[in-house]
Amino acid sequence: MGKLAITGGQPVRRKPLAPWPVYSLEEARAVQNVLASRNWGGYPFPNKLADAFAQKFARFHGAKYGLAVANGTVAIEIALKAVGMRPGDEVIVPAYTWEGTVGPVMLLNAVPVFVDVDPDTYCIDAKLIEKAITPKTRAILPVHLAMRFADLDAICQIARDHQLAVVEDCAHAHGGKWRKKGAGATGDLGTFSFQSSKLMTSGEGGAVITSNLECYERAQTYTNCGRASSTDKFRHRFIGHNYRMTEFQAAILEAQLRRLPVQNKMRLANMEHFEKRLGVTPGLGFLKRDARQTAVAPYQYVFKYSPEHFGAPRAAFLGALEMEGIPCDGLFYEPVYKSALFPVDAREYPALSWGRSEPIDLKTSFHCPVAERASYEEAVWLPHHIFLGSRKDTDDIAVAVLKVCENTGELRGLKHPAIERKAMSRAERPRVERRMW
Ligand SMILES: Cc1ncc(COP(=O)(O)O)c(C=O)c1O
Repeated sequence: MGKLAITGGQPVRRKPLAPWPVYSLEEARAVQNVLASRNWGGYPFPNKLADAFAQKFARFHGAKYGLAVANGTVAIEIALKAVGMRPGDEVIVPAYTWEGTVGPVMLLNAVPVFVDVDPDTYCIDAKLIEKAITPKTRAILPVHLAMRFADLDAICQIARDHQLAVVEDCAHAHGGKWRKKGAGATGDLGTFSFQSSKLMTSGEGGAVITSNLECYERAQTYTNCGRASSTDKFRHRFIGHNYRMTEFQAAILEAQLRRLPVQNKMRLANMEHFEKRLGVTPGLGFLKRDARQTAVAPYQYVFKYSPEHFGAPRAAFLGALEMEGIPCDGLFYEPVYKSALFPVDAREYPALSWGRSEPIDLKTSFHCPVAERASYEEAVWLPHHIFLGSRKDTDDIAVAVLKVCENTGELRGLKHPAIERKAMSRAERPRVERRMW
């Protein structure tokens, strides 16, 4: 029997950490009111609560206009359509993100161009963007990942120089700020997700924000089956989807938004305490905070684990940490071009073949070493809600991490179902996953 729970010792934590999502009577009353109103859907568009929420959410982030939509994936598709994306256009995307950042590019028959991430932030490395620009490039799609922002100063400068659009994927960044401006308000448009794991949630849901009326009008038309926007100044007409949000979701999100600032403050205070407790532990590394990121949106606490230093693979570290009672992840994302959730059949995406004798092979054309190391070796992701508890809870998380680090000798060569689970990709997990999100 060893010291670690995974080898038979006592776990640091038996009691679950803070649950997610958080809700109260506010959400219950709001949903009840929608139910009684019999006005449930997104039509007529924009419906009352969805519109009120969307405008509030946009203003909260410093943008003029907001649109509440079905989820964060379609929010990206809508934003790309709003900047006038056409089949065959290229979009510069980070290699390290959720597949849902890149799927919409493909679904519009545009072409993603993967760029590696910065090892200090795990967000797109702005220094590598110019090399990826071609005459077909139409937009840059940075993701503010986990707890950091992409370098919006550099990205927007490049976009101005090359007349490109910037769509910020803010699925992790509710309440975050760059130079005191809210997430999504620096680029042409910002997109958000309210899926269950996010910093505020209605189970599913999304938002698009912008200060550009023409983009806003196009976004409305695409979201609402091609109908004219509410202002219709630019009179754009094209086929759209039904990507509207229901009034139930909007009612919940109103309450979630009211709670967000206090929750973000608490998450951040606990994460800072956690980081101090880890101190300078050899073999662990931290992401750097850029002073221009004036408010952190703490979606997940991400740090780096060195398998070489500890002599045990990351999956073993994570399996052991989970057995100590701490929810955690490693293969949270993989370089999208390598992911099983990104199968690419060139016959379905004709733009991959346009102007070429052979279609571009998105699976083999890119090699992004920082993203690959983060994905398969070093990144450790801790969900935000475990930092919504007491200081003692946070101390337990730190104690558990340090305990596993001090006893990695017990993990060498160890086989255990918890370790196997931690080595599974997101594509494989639904078979074993009990977590709701
Ligand atoms: C970075 C990123 N982009 C886009 C999305 C897509 O959001 P949704 O799941 O709401 O469609 C997500 C969320 O899962 C995400 O994490």
